[in-house]
Amino acid sequence: MPDSIPRSIATGEIRWHVDFIAGLARTLRPEVYVELGVHTAELFNRVIPFAGQAIGVDMDPEAGRYISDAANVRFFCGTTDSFLDEISSSGLKIDMLFVDADHSRASVLQDFRGYFPHVRPQGLILLHDSNPDKELIDPAWCGDGYLAVEELSRKADNYEMVTIPLSPGLTICRKRTRHLSWEEPDTDGMRPARWGVRDGSNAAPADTTAKPPGRMSAFVRGVRSLLG
Ligand SMILES: C[S@@+](CC[C@H](N)C(=O)[O-])C[C@H]1O[C@@H](n2cnc3c(N)ncnc32)[C@H](O)[C@@H]1O
Repeated sequence: MPDSIPRSIATGEIRWHVDFIAGLARTLRPEVYVELGVHTAELFNRVIPFAGQAIGVDMDPEAGRYISDAANVRFFCGTTDSFLDEISSSGLKIDMLFVDADHSRASVLQDFRGYFPHVRPQGLILLHDSNPDKELIDPAWCGDGYLAVEELSRKADNYEMVTIPLSPGLTICRKRTRHLSWEEPDTDGMRPARWGVRDGSNAAPADTTAKPPGRMSAFVRGVRSLLG
């Protein structure tokens, strides 16, 4: 481990991805969310209320202790490779995948390529630490996983990628063969992801953190004022 902790880590300002991804999940309501590398579940627990099913994968059993208990949650204690073995036989289909486990170039490439076939067409793959400041390019911090993203972001026909250029960087990949999501055909027998389903079928039973939308707030304010 390096002698000193980089300022952006010490202040916590590198953690902007937590609000960003939780907000994305809140808007998109993934049917199946998978996070590779959960750590203290700060992000994972924020996504749970917005996912039909939320699966956290971490080889450190400690990670499981941080995960909130909910009906739609599963913790898989093991490597990303071993969970891939499991879903290769179970046929799990993923709508939103967050790749945030081993940050070496080789592992990020392996996770991306291994899980890609299990992500639905029009599904999203998020890759963390893809644009780190120079001082963060160290195996103790962000590793060299950004090299994998550099390689993967070259032209491909079946996905597109954009990297948010704020350190440590977050890359959003959309698996697609068509630009218009509603023109996307089934691929390998998989129907495309359905986003933003708000009829409740994608929401966890206890969506306690979701605030009511604007019109509902006005309604609630009205009722409150009537009640004095
Ligand atoms: C950067 S942390 C994850 C942070 C979390 N996603 C967040 O946003 O708060 C990386 C985690 O990946 C786990 N990990 C590293 N290599 C792994 C592997 N090959 N398989 C499974 N988990 C791994 C570590 O135990 C660690 O908890």
